[in-house]
Amino acid sequence: MSKKIVVITGSPRKNGNSFAMTDAFIKAAEAKGHTVTRFDAAMQNVGGCHACETCFKTGKACSFDDDYNTIAPAIIEADAVVFTMPVYWYSIPAQIKGVIDKLFSLVVGGKDIAGKKCALITCCEENDMSVMDGVRVPIERSAALMKWDMIGEVLIPGVLNVGDIDKTDGCKQAADLADKI
Ligand SMILES: Cc1cc2nc3c(=O)[nH]c(=O)nc-3n(C[C@H](O)[C@H](O)[C@H](O)COP(=O)(O)O)c2cc1C
Repeated sequence: MSKKIVVITGSPRKNGNSFAMTDAFIKAAEAKGHTVTRFDAAMQNVGGCHACETCFKTGKACSFDDDYNTIAPAIIEADAVVFTMPVYWYSIPAQIKGVIDKLFSLVVGGKDIAGKKCALITCCEENDMSVMDGVRVPIERSAALMKWDMIGEVLIPGVLNVGDIDKTDGCKQAADLADKI
Protein backbone atom coordinates (compact mmCIF):
# COMPACT_ATOMS: atom_id res chain seq x y z
CA MET A 1 0.00 0.00 0.00
CA SER A 2 1.27 3.45 -0.86
CA LYS A 3 2.59 5.31 2.17
CA LYS A 4 3.42 8.95 2.81
CA ILE A 5 7.08 9.25 3.73
CA VAL A 6 8.78 12.39 5.01
CA VAL A 7 12.56 12.47 4.61
CA ILE A 8 14.52 15.05 6.58
CA THR A 9 18.20 15.46 5.71
CA GLY A 10 20.89 17.16 7.78
CA SER A 11 23.97 17.48 5.59
CA PRO A 12 24.94 20.72 3.87
CA ARG A 13 26.81 18.69 1.21
CA LYS A 14 24.47 18.18 -1.73
CA ASN A 15 26.76 15.59 -3.32
CA GLY A 16 27.83 14.05 -0.05
CA ASN A 17 27.58 10.60 1.42
CA SER A 18 24.32 10.89 3.33
CA PHE A 19 22.65 12.60 0.35
CA ALA A 20 23.73 9.72 -1.90
CA MET A 21 22.11 7.26 0.51
CA THR A 22 19.05 9.51 0.80
CA ASP A 23 18.68 9.59 -2.97
CA ALA A 24 18.97 5.79 -3.13
CA PHE A 25 16.30 5.40 -0.47
CA ILE A 26 13.93 7.86 -2.13
CA LYS A 27 14.38 6.27 -5.55
CA ALA A 28 13.58 2.84 -4.13
CA ALA A 29 10.65 4.11 -2.06
CA GLU A 30 9.10 5.93 -5.03
CA ALA A 31 9.58 2.84 -7.20
CA LYS A 32 7.44 1.01 -4.65
CA GLY A 33 4.68 3.58 -5.12
CA HIS A 34 5.25 5.53 -1.92
CA THR A 35 4.99 9.31 -1.86
CA VAL A 36 8.12 10.99 -0.56
CA THR A 37 8.32 14.57 0.70
CA ARG A 38 11.88 15.67 1.31
CA PHE A 39 13.13 18.52 3.47
CA ASP A 40 16.81 19.47 3.34
CA ALA A 41 17.19 21.14 6.72
CA ALA A 42 20.65 22.54 5.95
CA MET A 43 19.21 24.50 3.01
CA GLN A 44 16.28 25.76 5.06
CA ASN A 45 15.88 28.19 7.90
CA VAL A 46 15.01 26.38 11.12
CA GLY A 47 15.95 27.80 14.49
CA GLY A 48 16.02 26.14 17.87
CA CYS A 49 13.12 25.51 20.20
CA HIS A 50 12.38 28.49 22.46
CA ALA A 51 10.59 26.26 25.00
CA CYS A 52 7.74 28.79 25.10
CA GLU A 53 5.17 25.97 24.93
CA THR A 54 2.85 28.06 22.80
CA CYS A 55 3.04 25.43 20.04
CA PHE A 56 0.01 25.45 17.70
CA LYS A 57 -1.66 28.18 19.81
CA THR A 58 -1.11 30.75 17.07
CA GLY A 59 -2.32 28.40 14.35
CA LYS A 60 1.20 27.34 13.43
CA ALA A 61 3.28 24.55 14.90
CA CYS A 62 5.92 26.97 16.13
CA SER A 63 5.15 30.53 17.20
CA PHE A 64 8.67 31.50 16.12
CA ASP A 65 7.82 31.16 12.45
CA ASP A 66 10.42 29.50 10.27
CA ASP A 67 10.65 26.64 7.78
CA TYR A 68 9.80 24.12 10.50
CA ASN A 69 6.23 25.28 10.06
CA THR A 70 6.20 23.72 6.59
CA ILE A 71 7.82 20.52 7.88
CA ALA A 72 5.50 19.94 10.86
CA PRO A 73 2.26 19.50 8.86
CA ALA A 74 4.01 17.01 6.58
CA ILE A 75 5.22 15.02 9.58
CA ILE A 76 1.73 14.98 11.09
CA GLU A 77 0.35 13.57 7.82
CA ALA A 78 3.18 11.08 7.28
CA ASP A 79 3.10 7.33 7.77
CA ALA A 80 6.88 7.24 8.07
CA VAL A 81 9.64 9.70 8.93
CA VAL A 82 13.22 9.06 7.80
CA PHE A 83 16.10 11.08 9.24
CA THR A 84 19.36 11.21 7.28
CA MET A 85 22.51 12.99 8.42
CA PRO A 86 26.25 12.68 8.92
CA VAL A 87 27.83 12.58 12.37
CA TYR A 88 29.18 15.95 13.44
CA TRP A 89 31.35 15.92 16.55
CA TYR A 90 29.88 12.60 17.71
CA SER A 91 26.43 14.10 17.53
CA ILE A 92 23.55 15.39 15.43
CA PRO A 93 24.47 18.24 13.05
CA ALA A 94 23.09 21.63 14.08
CA GLN A 95 21.42 21.93 10.68
CA ILE A 96 18.86 19.20 11.51
CA LYS A 97 18.88 19.50 15.31
CA GLY A 98 16.52 22.47 15.16
CA VAL A 99 13.95 20.33 13.36
CA ILE A 100 14.33 17.54 15.89
CA ASP A 101 14.09 19.93 18.85
CA LYS A 102 10.96 21.48 17.38
CA LEU A 103 9.28 18.05 17.25
CA PHE A 104 8.54 19.03 20.85
CA SER A 105 5.70 21.09 19.34
CA LEU A 106 3.90 17.89 18.32
CA VAL A 107 4.01 16.65 21.91
CA VAL A 108 3.08 20.00 23.52
CA GLY A 109 0.38 20.51 20.90
CA GLY A 110 -1.12 17.10 21.71
CA LYS A 111 -0.95 15.93 18.11
CA ASP A 112 -1.94 12.36 17.32
CA ILE A 113 1.42 11.20 16.02
CA ALA A 114 1.76 7.73 17.56
CA GLY A 115 2.22 4.72 15.31
CA LYS A 116 4.41 6.24 12.61
CA LYS A 117 7.35 4.32 11.24
CA CYS A 118 10.79 5.84 11.65
CA ALA A 119 14.20 5.13 10.16
CA LEU A 120 17.70 6.54 10.28
CA ILE A 121 20.42 6.84 7.67
CA THR A 122 23.77 8.11 8.93
CA CYS A 123 27.49 7.96 8.29
CA CYS A 124 30.81 9.12 9.72
CA GLU A 125 34.52 9.28 8.96
CA GLU A 126 35.87 7.06 11.69
CA ASN A 127 35.84 3.32 11.31
CA ASP A 128 33.99 2.71 14.53
CA MET A 129 30.28 1.98 14.77
CA SER A 130 30.05 3.55 18.23
CA VAL A 131 30.83 6.99 16.71
CA MET A 132 27.27 6.93 15.38
CA ASP A 133 25.79 6.36 18.87
CA GLY A 134 25.46 10.13 19.28
CA VAL A 135 23.02 10.18 16.38
CA ARG A 136 21.49 6.73 16.70
CA VAL A 137 20.58 6.83 20.41
CA PRO A 138 18.75 10.21 20.40
CA ILE A 139 16.79 9.25 17.29
CA GLU A 140 15.86 5.86 18.78
CA ARG A 141 14.82 7.39 22.10
CA SER A 142 12.92 10.25 20.49
CA ALA A 143 11.08 7.78 18.28
CA ALA A 144 10.22 5.65 21.33
CA LEU A 145 8.91 8.68 23.21
CA MET A 146 6.66 9.58 20.28
CA LYS A 147 5.59 5.91 19.97
CA TRP A 148 7.16 5.66 16.52
CA ASP A 149 8.36 2.26 15.40
CA MET A 150 12.06 2.18 14.38
CA ILE A 151 11.94 -0.03 11.32
CA GLY A 152 15.53 0.28 10.16
CA GLU A 153 18.88 1.97 10.47
CA VAL A 154 21.63 2.37 7.91
CA LEU A 155 24.86 3.12 9.79
CA ILE A 156 27.92 3.52 7.59
CA PRO A 157 31.34 4.21 9.14
CA GLY A 158 34.58 5.00 7.31
CA VAL A 159 33.31 7.61 4.85
CA LEU A 160 34.88 11.06 4.84
CA ASN A 161 35.01 12.61 1.39
CA VAL A 162 32.32 13.06 -1.22
CA GLY A 163 32.07 9.77 -3.12
CA ASP A 164 33.44 7.59 -0.33
CA ILE A 165 29.98 6.10 0.10
CA ASP A 166 30.43 4.40 -3.28
CA LYS A 167 33.16 2.24 -1.74
CA THR A 168 30.59 0.84 0.71
CA ASP A 169 27.20 -0.84 0.41
CA GLY A 170 25.54 2.19 2.03
CA CYS A 171 23.39 3.10 -0.95
CA LYS A 172 22.25 -0.50 -1.34
CA GLN A 173 21.36 -0.66 2.36
CA ALA A 174 19.47 2.63 2.01
CA ALA A 175 17.55 1.32 -1.01
CA ASP A 176 16.76 -1.92 0.86
CA LEU A 177 15.37 0.18 3.73
CA ALA A 178 12.46 1.07 1.45
CA ASP A 179 11.34 -2.59 1.67
CA LYS A 180 10.60 -2.07 5.37
CA ILE A 181 8.19 0.84 4.91
C1 LIG B 1 31.75 19.68 11.30
C2 LIG B 1 32.08 18.22 11.07
C3 LIG B 1 32.18 17.38 12.16
C4 LIG B 1 32.45 16.02 11.98
N1 LIG B 1 32.54 15.22 13.07
C5 LIG B 1 32.81 13.90 12.90
C6 LIG B 1 32.93 13.03 14.02
O1 LIG B 1 32.76 13.43 15.18
N2 LIG B 1 33.23 11.73 13.80
C7 LIG B 1 33.42 11.22 12.53
O2 LIG B 1 33.70 10.04 12.38
N3 LIG B 1 33.26 12.03 11.43
C8 LIG B 1 32.97 13.34 11.60
N4 LIG B 1 32.83 14.16 10.51
C9 LIG B 1 32.94 13.56 9.15
C10 LIG B 1 31.57 13.32 8.50
O3 LIG B 1 30.70 12.61 9.35
C11 LIG B 1 31.81 12.53 7.21
O4 LIG B 1 32.63 13.29 6.36
C12 LIG B 1 30.52 12.20 6.50
O5 LIG B 1 30.78 11.29 5.47
C13 LIG B 1 29.84 13.44 5.94
O6 LIG B 1 28.62 13.10 5.37
P1 LIG B 1 27.99 14.00 4.19
O7 LIG B 1 28.90 13.77 3.00
O8 LIG B 1 26.65 13.43 3.99
O9 LIG B 1 27.98 15.41 4.64
C14 LIG B 1 32.60 15.50 10.66
C15 LIG B 1 32.49 16.37 9.57
C16 LIG B 1 32.24 17.72 9.76
C17 LIG B 1 32.13 18.63 8.57
